[in-house]
Amino acid sequence: MIAKQSLHPEHYYDAKTLEVEQTQVFEKSWVFVGFKDQISQNHDFITLQVGNTPVVVQNFNGELSALLNVCSHRKAKLQTAQRGNRPLLCPYHCWSYKSDGALSGVPQNRTDFGLDDLAKKKLALKQFNLASCGNMLFVRVAKEGPRLDEFLGPYFNILEEISNDFVDPVQQGNYHWETNWKLACETVLEVYHVAGTHPETFAKFAKPEVEVAHFNGHTTGNTPLQDAPKKWWAGARKHLKLEQSTSYSEYNHFFIYPNLAIGLTNGSLMSLQTYEPKGTTQSQLNFQLRMMRRVDGGATSDAVKAAIKANFTEFNHTILEEDRLVAESCQANMQSIDSAGILGKCEERILHFHDAWRHDVQPHLPLRD
Ligand code: FES
Ligand SMILES: [Fe+2]
Repeated sequence: MIAKQSLHPEHYYDAKTLEVEQTQVFEKSWVFVGFKDQISQNHDFITLQVGNTPVVVQNFNGELSALLNVCSHRKAKLQTAQRGNRPLLCPYHCWSYKSDGALSGVPQNRTDFGLDDLAKKKLALKQFNLASCGNMLFVRVAKEGPRLDEFLGPYFNILEEISNDFVDPVQQGNYHWETNWKLACETVLEVYHVAGTHPETFAKFAKPEVEVAHFNGHTTGNTPLQDAPKKWWAGARKHLKLEQSTSYSEYNHFFIYPNLAIGLTNGSLMSLQTYEPKGTTQSQLNFQLRMMRRVDGGATSDAVKAAIKANFTEFNHTILEEDRLVAESCQANMQSIDSAGILGKCEERILHFHDAWRHDVQPHLPLRD
């Protein structure tokens, strides 16, 4: 038999599994935060949940720092939005913090708290490892572990190149899926589902073939585009004065373990998603669309961005909704089924994803088969 076994259904709804994943997968991996250009100004910030840890990545006068997003006073969230521009100041009683997490301001300290420098130091926020690859930022909550370039292996150079190419943000947003985060990731790891799930959308856009490469749980799936979208993009590039990636010109898809997916269309548009667990059977999909840089280095006008947005928002939304429906249908059955599904050769990227996952959780979780 060529096919291999998938994960046991229990690992898609079991609370203990998620608990182990939070510390052994998410907190030990380098997790994608965002692009440097999204927090280039003083006080810009991005927040995200990494395992059990709320994290804020904040710009302090040009210096970027990843800190625990929980106030040391009475545990309020320091930054409550997903992105924004605001000093690192607690909204509850206005305690403020410096780039290394040290307390910088405590209202009424002298009369009501009496915190000296040592006491303030003890109340510093935990700081996490932050590293960049090109224009992309990654955080690791666990103190010890491989460097980002070791973690990414050959994907370091790929991400460095594409993140420096796709510099123009067009749109971003979130979706809520009623699925385990792994099931959500699995929807983007094969094109076997395209004929069944996306007959009117993705099937008209790319051919049902894929060439796969991998390093640990990180994988590539290169799929040739149909002729029509290639023609459309050639015209769009000319009209919008966009460059084309010199390395990627088909539908080039990358998955960076544990939860980052990046699709490039004809070397012109980047569609990026992360899948955050929000419970055993809930996840949040965060997406971004970014365009290739312009030939003349100029900024794309808002009118052009609006046109691209109008064109792709609908397409992106429809495809993601088609994926959500099938994933939620699988999820709904997990609890009533006691045997694992199987994966064909055409689904080998999912096997690499599972291998990396098993490697991380196995010492801490009895695996069902
Ligand atoms: S909880 Fe943050 S200042 Fe009180
Ligand atoms: Fe899909």
